Amino acid sequence: MVAKTATLTVGDKSVELPVRAGTIGPDVVDIGALYGKTGMFTYDPGFTSTASCESKITYIDGDEGVLLYRGYPIDQLAEHGDFLETCYLLLYGELPTAAQKADFDYRITRHTMIHEQMARFFQGFRRDAHPMAVMVASVGALSAFYHDSTDITDPHQRMVASMRMIAKMPTLAAMAFKYNIGQPFMFPKNDLDYTSNFLRMCFGVPCEEYKVNPVLARALDRIFILHADHEQNASTSTVRLAGSSGANPFACVAAGIACLWGPAHGGANEAALKMLSEIGSVENIPKFIAKAKDKNDPFRLMGFGHRVYKNYDPRAKIMQRTAHEVLSELGIKDDPLLDVAVELERIALHDEYFVEKKLYPNIDFYSGITLKAMGFPVSMFTVLFALARTVGWIAQWSEMIEDPHQKIGRPRQLFTGAKPRDYVSISKR
Ligand code: SDX
Repeated sequence: MVAKTATLTVGDKSVELPVRAGTIGPDVVDIGALYGKTGMFTYDPGFTSTASCESKITYIDGDEGVLLYRGYPIDQLAEHGDFLETCYLLLYGELPTAAQKADFDYRITRHTMIHEQMARFFQGFRRDAHPMAVMVASVGALSAFYHDSTDITDPHQRMVASMRMIAKMPTLAAMAFKYNIGQPFMFPKNDLDYTSNFLRMCFGVPCEEYKVNPVLARALDRIFILHADHEQNASTSTVRLAGSSGANPFACVAAGIACLWGPAHGGANEAALKMLSEIGSVENIPKFIAKAKDKNDPFRLMGFGHRVYKNYDPRAKIMQRTAHEVLSELGIKDDPLLDVAVELERIALHDEYFVEKKLYPNIDFYSGITLKAMGFPVSMFTVLFALARTVGWIAQWSEMIEDPHQKIGRPRQLFTGAKPRDYVSISKR
C-alpha cells in the first residue's frame, strides 16, 4: 500500500509528514519529526484534534454514537456479560473461556481484603470528608502497603498490582461510604459475586444477614460495565501521563481518581443529580434551559454534551433503561427527578441551541437517578464511577508500559510571556 503523507507548508518551507491509518476511525498525521524539521510545535490545548497514543482497547465513533471494548459493542457486553468478564476483555483483549473466567473471578475474589492497618488509615479523616477525597488518598496509600507489586518493570508485579486494584476498589469504596455514615466496615465475602459483594459491604450491617437484591446487583454490575473504559478521556490521559514517568500503578490510579473528580468529567453524575434537584419540577425547566444557553451565564446542563459524542451517548440509552428497571423494582412509581430528567431531555433535544451544538445526554445524566434510588448518597456517585473505571485505567496504563517505544510524556508550549530582561534592584523598582 502506498504510504500516505501530508505536506505542511509554512512560508518557503515544506515538510512531508507520514499519515498512519488505524483499523477503524480517523487517520493520523505523525508530527513526531515536525519540530526537528521546522522548529515549530503544533498547538492544541484541549487535545481536540490530537491523538496522544496508539491503542487497541476502546474505540468510540462520536458521530455514530458507537462504543466498542476490544471490538465488542457496549450494548452487547452490557446485555450478555458481567463486569468481571468486561475486565478480563479490557485487560487481555479477548473474551474469556469459561475456565479463564472462573480463574479470573477466583483471583479477584481473593484479593478483595485490604491490609488491616489500612483500616486505621481511614480514622485520620473527618467523618464528613468527601468520599472522593478518601479514595484519592487511600488508593495512593496502597503503594505504601503493597511494595511487592510496585516494580513496573516486572510483568508479574504489574499483574498482581492490577488484580489488587480491581479487587480492592469496591472494598475501599464501601469503607469510604461506611466511614462517612459512621457505620462499621463490612468485610468482603468470598461466596458473593463482585457487585453483590460491594452492595453488601455498602448496605449490610454486622447485626443481620444482608439479602442481595439480584435485580439491583445486575443493574449495578451493568452500570460498572458502562463506565469501565472510554478511550483517552481526561482521567485516562492523566493515568497514562503519570505512568509515563515510571510512577507505580497505585499512584497513577490515584491521579486518575483526582482528575475524574472534576464536574466536567466524572463529577458530572453528582453535579447532574444536584442540578435536577435544583430544577425541582418540570415547570422550572425553561428557566434552566435559558441559563444553559446564556453566554454570560457559566451554568451548563450537567450530564449533557461530550467532547467526542456528537450523537447520543450509547451508554446513556442503557442507563435510562436501567433507571426505569431499578425504579420499577423498588416500586418507585413517580420519581420527580426522573420526570424532570425525561422532560429536560425531551425539551433539550428539540431546542435549536442543543441541536446545533450537538448536545445530547451523556452517561452521567441518568446514572445519578439510578444510584440515588439504590440508596447511594450523591457524594458516592463519582466513587462508583472511579470503581468501575479502574480497570480501564489499568488496561490503558499496561498498554503504555508494554509499548517498547514508550517514553515520558513531555508536551511543549506556545510562550507568550515576557521577553528576556535584566534584574532590577528593589531600590530602583
Ligand atoms: C464524562 O471524555 C470522556 O470520554 C468523558 C466520559 C468518560 O466516560 O470518561 O465520557 C465521562 O466526563 C462525560 C461528560 C460529563 N460532563 C458533563 O456532563 C458536564 C457538562 N458538559 C460540558 O461541560 C461539556 O459538554 C463537556 C465538558 C462534556 C465537553 O466539553 P467540550 O468538548 O470542551 O465542548 P465545549 O465546552 O467546547 O462546548 C461546545 C459548545 C460550547 O458553546 P460555544 O462556546 O461553542 O458557543 O457547547 C456548549 C459550550 O458552551 N456546551 C454546553 C454544554 N456542553 C457544551 N452548553 C450547555 N450545557 C452543556 N452541558
